[in-house]
Amino acid sequence: MLSEFLLAEMNRLGTQDALPLHRQLYEALRRAMLDGKLGAGERLPSSRDLAEDLSLSRNTVVAAINQLSVEGYLASRVGSGTYVNDNVPRAAPSRGTRNSGQPATLQAGRLSTRGIALSSTFCATELEVQPFTPGMVDFSAFPVALWQRLQNKHWRMTYPDMLDYNTSGGYAPLRRAVADYLRVFRSVQLEADQVVITSGTQQSLELCARLLADHGDTVWVEDPAYWGAVKAFMATGLAIHPVPVDEQGISPSAGDSTHPPRLIYVTPSHQYPTGAVMTLPRRHQLLATARAHDAWVLEDDYDSEYRFSGPPISSLEGLDTDGRVLYMGTFSKVLYPGLKLGYLVVPKPLVAAFKQAHYDLNRPGQMPVQAALAEFIEMGHFASALRRARQNYAERRQCLLEALKPVLTAGGPYISGAEQGLHLCLRLPGDIDDRALAQRVAQQGMTVRPLSAYCLQRQDLKGLVIGYGYAPLADIARCGPVLAGMVEQALQA
Ligand SMILES: Cc1ncc(COP(=O)(O)O)c(C=O)c1O
Repeated sequence: MLSEFLLAEMNRLGTQDALPLHRQLYEALRRAMLDGKLGAGERLPSSRDLAEDLSLSRNTVVAAINQLSVEGYLASRVGSGTYVNDNVPRAAPSRGTRNSGQPATLQAGRLSTRGIALSSTFCATELEVQPFTPGMVDFSAFPVALWQRLQNKHWRMTYPDMLDYNTSGGYAPLRRAVADYLRVFRSVQLEADQVVITSGTQQSLELCARLLADHGDTVWVEDPAYWGAVKAFMATGLAIHPVPVDEQGISPSAGDSTHPPRLIYVTPSHQYPTGAVMTLPRRHQLLATARAHDAWVLEDDYDSEYRFSGPPISSLEGLDTDGRVLYMGTFSKVLYPGLKLGYLVVPKPLVAAFKQAHYDLNRPGQMPVQAALAEFIEMGHFASALRRARQNYAERRQCLLEALKPVLTAGGPYISGAEQGLHLCLRLPGDIDDRALAQRVAQQGMTVRPLSAYCLQRQDLKGLVIGYGYAPLADIARCGPVLAGMVEQALQA
């Protein structure tokens, strides 16, 4: 019954669009779930049975199932198979159905299938500004009065063209300041003209996805992954292929090459969320793999300003000899996330196309804010903010490490990724329910994230992702031991 439906759908899709087989099966399975032919909680036939029933190769079936798992439609349970996720909503009977006052959850049926995937996976529940929330910075350290003065000054001096959209890739002095910083501190090889100012990493990623890949092309993402990147790729219609990360960073195997990438997204300086630093041999291997597939590499260097121990690490872009790495960074981690300013470094041959498409797609503006930021950097305020922040976060990090010490044992729990950034990862044994532990921690007014929640496909990682950016030292000193105690309890249970 199911296979008949799938075959009919695939047949229809195959005639309508020239979609590859795995994409046809993906669409057909998704339709089966949305139409209720495969209900929430229902078990999917095994990939072997599906392959046989549909006369497809097992690889094709596995690729479709993987993509649906990444997007949150399916979930695997170890040893028992793959199931339709409980939160997959049914589609509305027809597009024309009027809103008859149903509760918001039922309205999900009116979303596009992409909308459903985007709104049902990896959702940030609410703004959680409490001890240990990963990714949060210390808002209290931002020099508000100085920033206000600079903003006022640039608003007073604003010329009419500063109030218009801009076609130039951003305010020229800001692009120069970013280029100078990246050249010196991150060994990025660039000229200021290659910098495109964006509204942050999401926009940088979406620009890359839209301009460098077509609908249905494959992007390799790290597993576990930064959900912001996964969503940007889902939104642009790319097929997401998870590639496992080990202690040296992304680790593609020969099997991964059967899903040739058009894009490879990595966080080499401090893998998000495990914190792995990509080693030099792995960097060279990755560039060689990208070359072999003629793929673009998207390097997200989101928190490289904070390095606390170990030798300094340069950018992956600095090793690239054939201009296939696009480097991106953000001001979110040194200033504040709501500033919504980031930058993308584009290889020279692509600069004109990126500027034009950025203008047409995003209508970039905010020139007075960019001017204030350029002056903030030129006057040395950025460097001092960074110095202060480094000192602050170093103390908080040390305090958290001390608090977690009692939990660590040889061959048992350990910490990864504490050399850099604003979070570390407490790695726990495979039999710990890290989601339940994170929920218990939340009941005590702290936010940690379960490592398994970042995993797209693999099921072997358990742990807690713990941030030390937001909470003051005193709070870390008070809450750290409570957190450690709760972890110890979970280990003993
Ligand atoms: C890997 C990664 N990239 C980028 C960002 C955020 O960048 P933006 O604020 O510019 O969107 C984060 C935020 O936590 C992140 O973890």
